[in-house]
Amino acid sequence: MAKNQNLNSAAKAKKDKFYTQLEDVAEELRHYQDFFKGKIVLCNCDDPFESNFFQYFAIMFNALELKKLIATSYADSPIKGKEINLFPDGKTAYMVEVDALKDWNGDGREDLDDVKFAIEHGIYKTTQLEGDLHYCAGDFRSEECLELLKQADVVVTNPPFSVFREFVATLMDYRKKFLILGNKNAITYKEIFPLIMQDKFWIGFMPMSRDILFEIPEAYQKEFIAKADEGSKYRIVDGKILARASAIWFTNIEVARFREDIPLYKKYSPEEYPRYDNYDAIEVSKTAEIPCDYFGVMGVPITFLDKYDPRQFEILGMCENLDLYGLKTRTYTAKECRDRYFELFGKPGTYDLNAAGVINGKKVYQRILIRRRQ
Ligand SMILES: C[S@@+](CC[C@H](N)C(=O)[O-])C[C@H]1O[C@@H](n2cnc3c(N)ncnc32)[C@H](O)[C@@H]1O
Repeated sequence: MAKNQNLNSAAKAKKDKFYTQLEDVAEELRHYQDFFKGKIVLCNCDDPFESNFFQYFAIMFNALELKKLIATSYADSPIKGKEINLFPDGKTAYMVEVDALKDWNGDGREDLDDVKFAIEHGIYKTTQLEGDLHYCAGDFRSEECLELLKQADVVVTNPPFSVFREFVATLMDYRKKFLILGNKNAITYKEIFPLIMQDKFWIGFMPMSRDILFEIPEAYQKEFIAKADEGSKYRIVDGKILARASAIWFTNIEVARFREDIPLYKKYSPEEYPRYDNYDAIEVSKTAEIPCDYFGVMGVPITFLDKYDPRQFEILGMCENLDLYGLKTRTYTAKECRDRYFELFGKPGTYDLNAAGVINGKKVYQRILIRRRQ
């Protein structure tokens, strides 16, 4: 494997161990409350009890009027058994089904202590997962987990970053409703962006400009801070190390589908909105500055997506290397890329002009290509 690929896999594996804080789960979920009534919720990358997704739905079981909550842990989870250790060999992945929230422990309240009590006293169905020939116990792709997926109405979780594409493909294959956290970069994946373009799913309520702080397992904290810069990569809050990541919510739940129109106030002028050298489109560097009187193709930042309403705009593609959306008007040769690098930096190298929109020989940031609906 090339060195860069190794680094990428390491970075992805690191993010596989980011755990979502309860307040972030609650903040997004508060917008979807009515949707969950009578639903079977599956959290399929979530140690029952330790995961805040599980805890949120367990505490909110009655308020949301859920039919059932199912959570499955993963054999290799670093937080497995931290709070409840049902299987002392420590190796097992398991599944818990919550079908009611009552005052199981008789202390006069219905809360997380009751959930813990019900798991520990066999009130909730708890099943050890086995895995299969291809996947280990608790892997969302294993046969027994796919059986649970079939039962579920909606999947809500933060899946491992390293298998995000496959996770989404599985949800699409099984035609499930979902609300999942993913890395912001995932938008640009060639397996993901076309689905957003085709309105198969969209971005949740949390603004894309916001980073989320994730919990990291204790065993892993020292290693994490040794390699990361405080501030940009992590923060210490109440003595707890929290990793910062640009994550966003992806969902196909209708309530997040439509937005208020973006108010358009600026007038188009060729001086303020230059054309790309390699796309028949103008550059709009801020979503708020989309001109009100321009009906051709425009390149906008990817943060446009958290304001995007398909009734106001149409997404045509994005600026990317492979011309997957058939929108390039010019493809640069390897020699042109090398020459341009030399012109810009005075040394040999390659300036990958094909990877982006280009204005006067300079690449601009990642852009989505859109057009106003008339
Ligand atoms: C990014 S963490 C998020 C955990 C939890 N959903 C949360 O947000 O707090 C991903 C979790 O998925 C588990 N996991 C890794 N690979 C998996 C797989 N193939 N199938 C199911 N779970 C997996 C990891 O052990 C980890 O607990």
